[in-house]
Parts: sequence; C-alpha cells; structure tokens
Amino acid sequence: MAGVLTINTVEELKDVLFRIKSNGKSIGFVPTMGALHDGHLSLIKKAHDETEVVVCSIFVNPAQFNNPADLANYPRTPEKDIQMVEGFVDIVFTPSNEEIYPEPPTEQYNFGTLETVMEGASRPGHFNGVATIVKRLFDWIHPDKAYFGEKDFQQLTIIRQLVKDLNMEIQIVDCPTVREKHGLAMSSRNKRLSPEQFVLAGEIFRILNASTQIQPLTVQNIREFVMREINNITEFRLDYLEIVDATTLQPVESLDEHEGVFGCIALYINEIRLIDNIRYK
Ligand code: PAF
Repeated sequence: MAGVLTINTVEELKDVLFRIKSNGKSIGFVPTMGALHDGHLSLIKKAHDETEVVVCSIFVNPAQFNNPADLANYPRTPEKDIQMVEGFVDIVFTPSNEEIYPEPPTEQYNFGTLETVMEGASRPGHFNGVATIVKRLFDWIHPDKAYFGEKDFQQLTIIRQLVKDLNMEIQIVDCPTVREKHGLAMSSRNKRLSPEQFVLAGEIFRILNASTQIQPLTVQNIREFVMREINNITEFRLDYLEIVDATTLQPVESLDEHEGVFGCIALYINEIRLIDNIRYK
C-alpha cells in the first residue's frame, strides 16, 4: 500500500481490512498508546519485515489507567507519531474514546496469579484494561501477528495467556527492549523527564545490569544490592523489585530450579513511574 492511511472508526477499519484479507495478505499489528519512540519503531519495523500489511493503533486507553493524573499527563504527540511511522505502516488506527467505548466496558478477565504480582498488584485493574482493549483490537483487526515489547514483560505474558485462553489464532511476537545510549529503557513516559531526571534514570539499567555480575548470584544478594543502590539515589522512590520465574511471574527464592529468572523493577522519579527488567538466567 502507498502512504499511510489514517482511520478513525471501527467500521472503516473492518471494511478496509476485509478487502485486504480477501486479497490473501498477511497482517501485522502493533498496538500503541502513541508518543512513539524508537522502541515502538523497532516493533513496527519487525512487523514490516514479517508481514504484508502493517496496522498500528494509537489510543491512550483510559481503561488501563488506575491513576487519573497518569492518564491526564500521558504524553500525546499525534502528528509526530504519524510522520514517524511513514514508510513502515500502512494503516494507522486513531480512534476516539467514544469509538472504542461507546458504553463503559464491562469485560472481566482473570489471569490468576499472573496478574496478582508486580504491575497487577501496584495498579489494580490495569491488566483488565489492557486485555479489554487488546481483545477488542484483535477482534476488529484479526492480525496474523501482533508485536509487543519485552520492556512490558508482565503485559507480554498476560497477552500470551489471553490469546491462549481465548483460542485466538494470532502469533504474539516479542521484541527486545530498545535502550537510550545510557541504558534507560525507551518509554513514552521518558518524555516527561527533565534533562537531569533523564540522565539519572540511566542508573536504573546500570544497577540492574551490574546486579547480573554479583558473585555469588543469589536472590538475596541481588535484592540487597539493587535495593541499596536504588535507595542511595534520593530522587528514586522504589515501587517494587521482584525476582521472578520467567513463566509463572511468581517471586523465586533461589535461581536454581527455574529455567528462566527475571528481575523486574518499578520506581518513581517524582511522580513519573518507570519500569524495567533484566534476565538473570
Ligand atoms: O503497551 C502499551 O502501550 C499498551 O498497554 C497497549 C498494549 C497498547 C494497550 O493499550
């Protein structure tokens, strides 16, 4: 397809995609909340390489925000976003809130213990809101492949579970975290950091990365090291640090007996909440 087609309504989206699918084309989908950065672009480029038609949605989903100030302050850069995806995306879906939620959503999802930890524990209702929007988008778009970043490690696990529980024939493709030069994981929320806070935020990855080198590498040593380093930085307010099994997301007591183990962190710089994660094994 030539150029980016911007669509605002579900009806037009379904219509256009119906014609595309009738021509046997594969569809790659990248859901976003806009304020796009190179992390999003890496997902979009992967979709562009792997599928014939790329759809990117830009919608700041109120259902997944439990904090009204966070929703109000979430960065919005619609014109820049569309310029940025030019050449890689065929369809940008930019619906209004009323288009997505003509009535308040009532869906209830249950991801069991996957959602009772970390982001799910800190942000009640967050994953129900994520699942609600992603399921609706999947139903309208019917992508062959959908792309999600590993920075939102718990979200990725929950989306995989959603697709499995509902028997959806969509391949979930995970994409590595893209980082700034000083290591900070790219995130739309980074746009809210002052230049000084931005520099300081690089410490999150420096600390996580350094923690992989601890000898002996035990859960207790990792926790002690990361907590000490984070607490040394007065501008940081730790929300959680969890060392979890890569599949169940449950906290582990030892790195042995688990095939994959990740460290996941959430912290505030002022009221700006940042998350990151690192693999230990
Ligand atoms: O990761 C995000 O940006 C959002 O949670 C998503 C998947 C676009 C759903 O609103």
